[in-house]
Amino acid sequence: MNNFKEIKLTELPFSPFDIKDKWMLVTAQKDGKVNTMTASWGMFGIMWNKEVVSVVIRPQRYTKEFIDNADSFSITLFDKNFKKELGYLGTVSGRDEDKIAKAGLTVVHKNNVPFFDEAEVVIIAKKLYSQPWDGDFFVDAKLIDQWYPEKDFHTMYVAEIETVLKKD
Ligand SMILES: Cc1cc2nc3c(=O)[nH]c(=O)nc-3n(C[C@H](O)[C@H](O)[C@H](O)COP(=O)(O)O)c2cc1C
Repeated sequence: MNNFKEIKLTELPFSPFDIKDKWMLVTAQKDGKVNTMTASWGMFGIMWNKEVVSVVIRPQRYTKEFIDNADSFSITLFDKNFKKELGYLGTVSGRDEDKIAKAGLTVVHKNNVPFFDEAEVVIIAKKLYSQPWDGDFFVDAKLIDQWYPEKDFHTMYVAEIETVLKKD
């Protein structure tokens, strides 16, 4: 396993706004099995006086079952050399193939939460709140036409950031 050191959120080597193009893997474990998916949407901020991250997961994602069953999940960020792997992990479902093995990534754990040894930065977060978004509450209904033609609204998870690791 590579060496990782704990850093503060203020020491992140990128802006949270970079995630749109940088992408990340959201990973959780269920019954000893790990699944992951690529995400490029999410938020970092302060809620209930805690440092939090939120991710949004559509109902059909296999990863959702894993996040729903776990107390915590990880967010893994990579340097730009891993874009191809992230593209693959964001296209194929873990229901259909052993995509982590095929992507050549190595699962490691911190406090029983899985992440990837090839990471640049890892965020371990404990779930605080989850809620499926509801079409009735969109103020800008155009977003529904644009992003949810099949009404497969994301579930939003708000999670407390417990540990931030950076490759040493
Ligand atoms: C760049 C990129 C960003 C994505 N962002 C999200 C996201 O924020 N939420 C989501 O539900 N799916 C997102 N996806 C789609 C999932 O990663 C994709 O459907 C994946 O294959 C799900 O795998 P799973 O079924 O093993 O969970 C994204 C895909 C890509 C390529």
